[in-house]
Amino acid sequence: MTTIFRLDASIRNEGSVTRAVATSLESALLADDPDARVLRRDLGREPLPSQMWADALAGSHIPEGERTPEQRAALALASEMGDELTQADAFIFAIPMYNFGVPPHAKAWIDVLITDPRFSPRSANPIAGKPAYLVLARGGMYGPGTPREGWDHATEWLKLIFGRIWGLDVTVIETELTAADVSPALAEFRGLAAQNLERAHTVAAEHGKDLAARLREAEAA
Ligand SMILES: Cc1cc2nc3c(=O)[nH]c(=O)nc-3n(C[C@H](O)[C@H](O)[C@H](O)COP(=O)(O)O)c2cc1C
Repeated sequence: MTTIFRLDASIRNEGSVTRAVATSLESALLADDPDARVLRRDLGREPLPSQMWADALAGSHIPEGERTPEQRAALALASEMGDELTQADAFIFAIPMYNFGVPPHAKAWIDVLITDPRFSPRSANPIAGKPAYLVLARGGMYGPGTPREGWDHATEWLKLIFGRIWGLDVTVIETELTAADVSPALAEFRGLAAQNLERAHTVAAEHGKDLAARLREAEAA
């Protein structure tokens, strides 16, 4: 049976573009593979405790018997989070841009995972080579020639962690101008924003179908 791990990081439940586009991918996959299991971690709804990373990091540098109860609990949760990833055959990471970067709770989730020796930048990662879909949304636009070109400090960092550090086979599905409907400064781009969104859903559904076929082939091999 196929297992998909899905991470959501939007602080919005209603109207979230990353959640909706990720669901287009997930639904297309499940239409082809109804028995697939989806493991979920929703950082938007349930962020990690703010002290967890410091406790996991400190605990990881000292012998087990010397750890505080907080350090032990943090390391146990880090290990549980690592197990969620190692069980999966493929990944969907739905992560918006906040303040020109990565949501703090997504950064914390990655930082905590890196305290688990399996996900350290120095180890051969057990999930390396598996397919991963990075579903991104940005309120504004950051492409070449735009006034804010170079201000996107999220996308390349996420590609570095998931692709270079953890070795996943990353496909990016991104939507820009998601704030055009509510921002008067972006009003002239509303038509383009609607096209972007429609394209992201179409591309996500195509990837969901492709992924189902890819995983079926891998299972048969
Ligand atoms: C607190 C906050 C900060 C944001 N910062 C930025 C930003 O720096 N640049 C940008 O283009 N959009 C920014 N946005 C807009 C989001 O990237 C956009 O609404 C995106 O669609 C959010 O993902 P979601 O639709 O899945 O919730 C911000 C939104 C919020 C709520």
